[in-house]
Amino acid sequence: VDSTRWQQQSLHTEKPESAKGYNQQNEILATNAAKDGSLINSDVGAPRISKLTCNFSHRHSDYCRMEGDLRIHGRSGRVYVVSSSTFRPENSTITVRPYTRKWEPETMSRIREVEIRSSAPPPHSFVIPPKCTVRHDVPAVIFSTGGCGKNFFHAMSDLIVPLYTTAHEYNGHVQLLITDYNTEWVAKFKPILAALSIYPVIDFDADTAVRCFPSAHVGLESHRILGIDPALSRNGYTMMGFRDFLRSIFSLQRPWMTPVSRSSGKKPRLVFVLRRHSRAVTNEADAMAAVADIGFEVVAAGPEDVSDMARFAPVVNSCDVMVGVHGAGLTNMVFLPHNGTIVQIIPWGNLKYPCRFDFGDPVPDMGLRYEEYEVTAEETTLKDKYPRDHPVFADPLSIHRMGKIWNVFLEEQNVTLDIDRFRGAMQQLYQSITTE
Ligand SMILES: *[C@@H]1O[C@H](CO)[C@@H](O)[C@H](O)[C@H]1NC(C)=O
Ligand SMILES: *[C@@H]1O[C@H](CO)[C@@H](O)[C@H](O)[C@H]1NC(C)=O
Ligand SMILES: *[C@@H]1O[C@H](CO)[C@@H](O)[C@H](O)[C@H]1NC(C)=O
Ligand SMILES: *[C@@H]1O[C@H](CO)[C@@H](O)[C@H](O)[C@H]1NC(C)=O
Repeated sequence: VDSTRWQQQSLHTEKPESAKGYNQQNEILATNAAKDGSLINSDVGAPRISKLTCNFSHRHSDYCRMEGDLRIHGRSGRVYVVSSSTFRPENSTITVRPYTRKWEPETMSRIREVEIRSSAPPPHSFVIPPKCTVRHDVPAVIFSTGGCGKNFFHAMSDLIVPLYTTAHEYNGHVQLLITDYNTEWVAKFKPILAALSIYPVIDFDADTAVRCFPSAHVGLESHRILGIDPALSRNGYTMMGFRDFLRSIFSLQRPWMTPVSRSSGKKPRLVFVLRRHSRAVTNEADAMAAVADIGFEVVAAGPEDVSDMARFAPVVNSCDVMVGVHGAGLTNMVFLPHNGTIVQIIPWGNLKYPCRFDFGDPVPDMGLRYEEYEVTAEETTLKDKYPRDHPVFADPLSIHRMGKIWNVFLEEQNVTLDIDRFRGAMQQLYQSITTE
């Protein structure tokens, strides 16, 4: 199949349907194809035998891989696996919700189901699959953006890292199809999507074409929170490799941090990620002044600075240390140079383990160093709201058990750092990342 020739013909002989004009470059319109006898002939001959394998045993996601004669109709949410050698009558229809937080029923309920329909090889097949209207000669990857909202941590952990794990191996020659299409999300992550695929993404749910692909993935592989398990990755991908990939996308200058010599007069740079509505540091100016006194060059980063990824990534990369209270902004650690340090400030409420789960455990695999600063009962604004004998202080775990971590400890709390205590912790860090 000479698909290049098909494309040229389809582009030069007729104005392609333009609802989604951007799809032109990688589509071959059936109307054009039908005019060319050789193309019709290319469908004749031995039928292609397909193959489908699914894995439903991972905690994060269900995903299926398939190859052969695949016909994908986004509008109806269906993938046809034609003449499948793996066909079994009992699972001729399989459904997958292509998102990576399988353990959260609430999130998953917002994800559209994609139906995979297999048919037996002839002569046993009684299913007539839809005819291709568009042919692609690269693999398809179908996933949902319906589960992460605007949260940067979830965008990275639930989607961008799994996308890298699933699709990077194709070197850009892969078509991404997005169900529960989130326009803002797609716009924000455009630079990364463009590095993963040279083709514009397709809004799956709105797509009326029947697209034929030689191979496809439904669902993304996800191994861990904000992480990759090289042993599970077909290509042995790592988080350090992922960070190198981001570094090239955003043209970041520093692959590695190099320890600063104290006598040289140079200062290590520290970016302080500041929050505004909850988990704010009420005395942030004093905290930053203390850190500057120690010898750091301090960069303050409010939500407005952090939200522009392409602008903020180089700022983070220019720093050696990132500090901030637990929250999605810390996800920007992915842009730190290797061997940089992340300091997570853990709010009151026995939150050490949940906080580590998101922003502690993933750190070593990224080639970064992790420190934490857990605030005391004296350093939380909750003390203005609850008496000391209240379970909020006396038995924080009872608040966890009531399912109120989010409301009480994450939404209703600001942090007032004990400046001397904080200075002590940052002084130690300064010593450990500088040389004489
Ligand atoms: C279909 O069912 C068979 C037998 O029940 C099983 O071995 C196979 O893994 C299933 N295939 C998929 C894609 O789930
Ligand atoms: C399915 O995924 C699990 C968990 O990631 C893995 O241990 C297992 O080897 C996979 N099974 C297959 C058949 O790939
Ligand atoms: C936390 O501080 C912000 C200002 O940065 C304020 O708007 C918010 O009401 C405070 N929240 C609490 C629970 O004190
Ligand atoms: C990482 O930083 C630490 C502390 O400055 C230093 O001891 C270590 O040699 C560095 N590692 C590399 C690989 O640069």
